[in-house]
Amino acid sequence: MNVLQAIRYTPGDSASLQILDQLQLPHRSEYEDIPSATEGWAAIKEMKTRGAPAIAIVAALSLAVELAHNDNIKSADASKTKEHIQARLKYLVTSRPTAVNLEDAARKLSALVEAEATKENATGLSVRQTYIKASEQMLVDDVKDNEAIGRNGAEWILKHVSRANKRGANVITHCNTGSLATAGYGTALGVIRALQASNKLSHAYCTETRPYNQGSRLTAYELAHDKIPSTLITDSMAAALMNLNLNDEDKAIDAIVVGADRVTANGDTANKIGTYSLVPIYTYANLYRAVLAKRHGAKFLVAAPRTSIDLTRASGKDITIEHRAPDEVILVKGPVFDGTNVQDEAVTVSTAPRGINVWNPAFDVTPAELIDGIVTEAGVVEKDESGNFPLSTFFGN
Ligand code: MRU
Repeated sequence: MNVLQAIRYTPGDSASLQILDQLQLPHRSEYEDIPSATEGWAAIKEMKTRGAPAIAIVAALSLAVELAHNDNIKSADASKTKEHIQARLKYLVTSRPTAVNLEDAARKLSALVEAEATKENATGLSVRQTYIKASEQMLVDDVKDNEAIGRNGAEWILKHVSRANKRGANVITHCNTGSLATAGYGTALGVIRALQASNKLSHAYCTETRPYNQGSRLTAYELAHDKIPSTLITDSMAAALMNLNLNDEDKAIDAIVVGADRVTANGDTANKIGTYSLVPIYTYANLYRAVLAKRHGAKFLVAAPRTSIDLTRASGKDITIEHRAPDEVILVKGPVFDGTNVQDEAVTVSTAPRGINVWNPAFDVTPAELIDGIVTEAGVVEKDESGNFPLSTFFGN
């Protein structure tokens, strides 16, 4: 099986960037060259690369590669180079609006080149080098952060759900938050990987995640790749699964762990459409827990790096939700399967009549009051006595 690597980057004078084209998964594993920010922007927009951290890293590195091959910079002065980089970053941010990680990366990279350009001896080359070094560091830091998120989330679940600690955790996840959505390891899927690594995972359930099927195409692919005990369900089966196993000490779900595209200052969390619909199930389990002296509670966790936390927005009402093309809902693309073999050629089939109106928001917002903990690389943020997430105290500058 192929190595799970969404982003391949080679540094140096002949720097290059390749992304795994996630539209072809799970049937084909094909890498595409991204020689400039223009191709980086298009790959993000078309969702060949996706997932909040991966979007930010691919955008940053696409510009790094473009700059590494731009010889005009050798003669350009520091200020012109800085302006060029900042303009390209602004353009990259327009590719997808909901995940804050790209915005955050662009802001930090922009500030770094600004600082370098104001130095007395700054040149076009030194500004370029500052940018390239910082964007390369993002690739390294993301894997370390995800491993820490995985450890923190796994420990938290085992501490707070005693039956999970006894027999291993049963976890549901949504969308894809794994190696394919990040530089490696993953956030919510990182928590599942960490549970598995410490022999404390009983079973992972992944939702199909309509309309783009990041769950069935990508998460199921990662779970199978890592031989993690797992089962795929359609989005509409989550309530039945939770209900079915509510009374069964062995099979009861212990945690729903999802990623985030933007967590606002009050803890409201934008994530893949369908995340919020897992909440009624969780609420029901929680009511049950209250009645049965906390025997049946499941925890609802958001696992995300600090770069997904946006303290400049007060609540979920301030998040721009991306709306995508109707075709993503009514057309399904994939290779023909004749019952035995998967053919090479991909076909597109329609699942609805042409002309029907389609509503296709890519994300929804789960209110903070329904979330038990926000797992980051720096620890798990829980609610204070007044029921609020102290995110500003935890992460404020
Ligand atoms: O539209 P996508 O596939 O980019 O959406 C991805 C998600 O919603 C993920 O849960 C989120 O970005 C976190 S990825 C670590």
